Amino acid sequence: METVVSGIRPTGNLHLGNYFGAVKSFLQMQYEYNCYFFIADWHSLTTHPHPDNIRNSVKTILAEYLACGIDPEKATIYIQSDVREVAELYLYLNMNAGIGELMRTTSFKDKARKQLHIDAADSDGDMEKEIFNEGNKHSVSAGLLTYPTLMAADIIIHKAVKVPVGKDQEQNMEMARRFARRFNSTFGVEFFPEPASFYYSNKAVKVPGLDGSGKMGKSEGNAIYLIDDEKTIKKKVMKAVTDAGPTEPNSVKPEPIANLFTMMDIVSTKDTYDFFNEKYNNCEIRYGDMKKQLAEDINNFCAPIRERILDIRANDEYMTKVARMGAEKASESAAKTLREVREIIGFRG
Ligand code: TRP
Repeated sequence: METVVSGIRPTGNLHLGNYFGAVKSFLQMQYEYNCYFFIADWHSLTTHPHPDNIRNSVKTILAEYLACGIDPEKATIYIQSDVREVAELYLYLNMNAGIGELMRTTSFKDKARKQLHIDAADSDGDMEKEIFNEGNKHSVSAGLLTYPTLMAADIIIHKAVKVPVGKDQEQNMEMARRFARRFNSTFGVEFFPEPASFYYSNKAVKVPGLDGSGKMGKSEGNAIYLIDDEKTIKKKVMKAVTDAGPTEPNSVKPEPIANLFTMMDIVSTKDTYDFFNEKYNNCEIRYGDMKKQLAEDINNFCAPIRERILDIRANDEYMTKVARMGAEKASESAAKTLREVREIIGFRG
């Protein structure tokens, strides 16, 4: 069975966009591959070096993934910081990683500019000048610079060949392949396989926001969270952007309306969808009714997950057990790789 690794940064609650965009593919993959899904708590230090309550954020995300149906008996679910071997591999990979190549990655440049309070439009030269400016009160951490090395370590430590990620991770994946190849060529071994991106976004449903245009996202401020209660869901859906309604039969749907229908297509039955679609095509649509139905169907989808989140979140013992089991399985695989890596480099294995 092929090995799959994916990391999830613990940055807040899961929303419907995350569910249909990513979590759903994880659910399927756990039955088809040897899966390692981990919570990237070390990575979160690259942007939040003084975490407020990192254990809490980790537990929240763990409970939500379990509630969605990731099965700790099938996939190995673990917390990155529980597997210290990752840090050791990160150290070795960093010795052969160039600061130039790391500085040229777009996500580094974007985040570094932000941390230096430089406008995104400014040139790379300004960014470098500010990084080297001793008088600057803002600095960019070595941790942020080496984000891709840590990610490469996460992946190759289990010799993964497939990595389900969003399209935005393309460059990080290219770096992971490069660092794997470089290790092999530096030591003249065929040790690490090159991991390939596995874009779930091709197969995944793009969940729209209900605020007129674009996708659902946390930073877009239009997310419906799996943990949202019935009242909150209703409030969010009733606020969805609509228009005065079509005046010609079978009109093309403007984006805000199309988004409402897309959402309905995702969570409602075909009959419900067809019913409102026909109303729309006959110019008899009442958006208020449609939204009420949509809110109900979203709630029906979320309610069982929400109940499981609350149950799991309240069961600290269970979460600790899952995390310990995952840590054991992941450590076993990581320790094996590291013993070999140490021997290849020339340390005691
Ligand atoms: N960089 C990934 C993201 O932002 C998270 C991540 C960290 C990851 N390590 C990984 C993803 C290893 C896949 C494999 O989404």
